[in-house]
Amino acid sequence: MKSGLEKEQQHSNRTNLKIGAMWSNFRDRMSLIHNRLNEIRPTYGGKALLIGAGNGYDLPLSQLEANYESIVVVDIDTDSFKELLKQVSCPEKFKFVHVDVSGVGSQIPSLRKLTELEIIQMIDKLEYRDEWTNKLEGSFDFIMTCHLTTQLVSPFFMMEMLAMKGNISWEYNMAVNRLSERVINGLFQSISTILSKEGLFFHSTDTFELSYNESTDTWRKGSEEILKAANFNIDFLHEVPSLVYTDLISKGYHITGSTLPDTLFETYEKLPYNYISPWQFSNEGSFLKTYVVFSYPFILKAES
Ligand SMILES: C[S@@+](CC[C@H](N)C(=O)[O-])C[C@H]1O[C@@H](n2cnc3c(N)ncnc32)[C@H](O)[C@@H]1O
Repeated sequence: MKSGLEKEQQHSNRTNLKIGAMWSNFRDRMSLIHNRLNEIRPTYGGKALLIGAGNGYDLPLSQLEANYESIVVVDIDTDSFKELLKQVSCPEKFKFVHVDVSGVGSQIPSLRKLTELEIIQMIDKLEYRDEWTNKLEGSFDFIMTCHLTTQLVSPFFMMEMLAMKGNISWEYNMAVNRLSERVINGLFQSISTILSKEGLFFHSTDTFELSYNESTDTWRKGSEEILKAANFNIDFLHEVPSLVYTDLISKGYHITGSTLPDTLFETYEKLPYNYISPWQFSNEGSFLKTYVVFSYPFILKAES
């Protein structure tokens, strides 16, 4: 039986089918970044793993297939892989494995019969279990998280509570945030067990949402500050100093699931580069929506 997380992601991938064509600028930027990565830390020729590649609209697929011998795609949504394959020239290089990398999906009961307090208590008991790396063979030279860490638990829990109660309480939001941190921490630990010693882990995540809704005349919190930092031109976002972003994160303007867990640095060393890219979802006059994507390259820490 499909878990709630799986149904939520399938729905979201179906919706993205309509807007994938809008993402060509974002894909170009991802291609550019990918080329840089191969200058900094060459991993081409080896084996790549794309985590949450979905329809593949947000990925530099032509470079990936040119650069790697084989590419394993893991996702909770099997159908989306068919859409990804339509965009590649060497489908035989790609292999799909259906997994839930959240480590908690199979533990979540139906929420509809529970009270809010019971759900919060249940969420706080959920612990990440690695139930996916054992489905993969060997290690990988390049591993990329494809804008999925914000999707792992938050959208499902938010949609469910909105459907049940119509609003999200502070306590509920905090429980989902705590769960999201545990899940990402577990996910990054799992990734370290399948990354080859000389490999590269490229973590790419939507981090801020810039949006404006004309019908309610509201900006999402932080949107105006982020735009101001970019001189009101989203195309200049990548020139905004990273210090500004640290400040915006400390104000809580980021999307749940986009921050890096502290424990990450016990296992990985971050290479001294941050890539920032605008990812546009809607540019209609009445509703603007762009995500600001941060991408970070990591390598495994040398064993002491
Ligand atoms: C934001 S989408 C990325 C956009 C997508 N590449 C596209 O082109 O539409 C995140 C992807 O992560 C996948 N995903 C979300 N939660 C997952 C989970 N628990 N395990 C594995 N994949 C998951 C979704 O199915 C989706 O394909």
